[in-house]
Amino acid sequence: MPHTHTEFNTADLLAGRPVFWGQGLTPLQTVDDPAADCITPAAIAQVQQRFARFAPLMAQLFDGLAESEGVIESPLKPVPQLQSALGLSPDQGALYVKADHQLPIAGSVKARGGTHEVIEFAERMALRHGLITPDADYRELAAPRARALFGQYTVAVGSTGNLGLAIGTMAAALGFRAEVHMSADAKDWKKRRLRALGVHVVEHPGDYASAVAAGRRNAAENPYCHFVDDEHSTSLFLGYANAASHLAQQLEASGRVVDAEHPLFVYLPCGVGGAPGGIAYGLHLIYGRHVHCIFAEPTASPCFLMQLLAGSNALPTNNTHPSVYDIGLNNRTEADGLAVPQASLLAAAVAGPKVAGSYTVTDDTLFQHLYLAQTTEGLRIEPSAAAGFSGPGMLLDTAQGRHYLAAQGLGTEPLCQATHVAWLTGGMLVPDAEYEAFVKRGMALKGV
Ligand SMILES: Cc1ncc(COP(=O)(O)O)c(C=O)c1O
Repeated sequence: MPHTHTEFNTADLLAGRPVFWGQGLTPLQTVDDPAADCITPAAIAQVQQRFARFAPLMAQLFDGLAESEGVIESPLKPVPQLQSALGLSPDQGALYVKADHQLPIAGSVKARGGTHEVIEFAERMALRHGLITPDADYRELAAPRARALFGQYTVAVGSTGNLGLAIGTMAAALGFRAEVHMSADAKDWKKRRLRALGVHVVEHPGDYASAVAAGRRNAAENPYCHFVDDEHSTSLFLGYANAASHLAQQLEASGRVVDAEHPLFVYLPCGVGGAPGGIAYGLHLIYGRHVHCIFAEPTASPCFLMQLLAGSNALPTNNTHPSVYDIGLNNRTEADGLAVPQASLLAAAVAGPKVAGSYTVTDDTLFQHLYLAQTTEGLRIEPSAAAGFSGPGMLLDTAQGRHYLAAQGLGTEPLCQATHVAWLTGGMLVPDAEYEAFVKRGMALKGV
């Protein structure tokens, strides 16, 4: 069949070359997940209130939260030097980064959902056992009586690393026992850091999906175990969604308007889809069709993109919940946070229809962008977090990206009033030696 410029490029996807898909390019198969009904604006408001109730306790538990009075948030920064190094001209809009790589507690976006699920569980247990009332001073939860209760429970999670760091750190701080099931991709320093906090780290030889499955099985046998299920958890998802209102305040404070003439493009590194899905859902509630959330995955692990393509003839598999192995990809990437073979159906059900587009990026590009982020703006990020930097190029310089823009009525005007936000999802805690090796690799690839 002749290949027209607006088709999805299946051959490139299969060969591990970068691709862009935009909404409308293939028919989107809707996915059902019963938990999707729990994702509502009212539920996000409850998350916001819960974080506020816990803020004084968080400020007491974590030195890094004293200044923000217990609020877990990150800056939004313009990055003009990096914008120019990436070749995004000012008449295509202004590039910002959302600096979740500096988020307190876990140094990654996972601090949002991960801390939320742990405090929600702690609150439920404390209310059930009469330790607090909803209007109490939650600093009582640091008292020996509360810690004795929490110490009877295990909070467990399966993770490629960063979710484990967030859950393990938060659970240990409250006095829970913490158990983190880690996949083979997880970096040693993440395991060492957790063990130093007293977290029980279980190493699995398989991938992320098998670590999650093993953790889930273990937890099912223990009534005193709360399992944080990265593939299904509404509590995690809502914790990420809560980020949207803060970003909206930051954009407003920076004078960035978002409307039909001022589109907002947000580039979100994607693993199982919970973090980017929650953020995309939250941003859509605020901005509707004026926000364009675009997910970024490694060429070896495009599980969310495959879920978006499921049911179309762009994939050589009829699997309605496809895995990257189904199409011969190997899920091997240095972007350990994104090394996920199968998407979360909850994230696909809730966020799939809201996603503007999705693209893939090679590891070599991740390292080059990691290097550029350091040398132009002093941003210290891990490889996964660099995935968003390919976004503007994939959107503006590929036929499929331009097709999406044209379909949105954005194809003819210059985009000088647009805001592009690359979500930096992790990096602050990477040890120096590892980070220097990342920078060196990027430098070599750049030929510097
Ligand atoms: C640094 C980083 N970025 C992005 C993600 C993607 O989040 P999710 O798996 O919820 O899609 C992860 C997940 O662990 C991560 O560690």
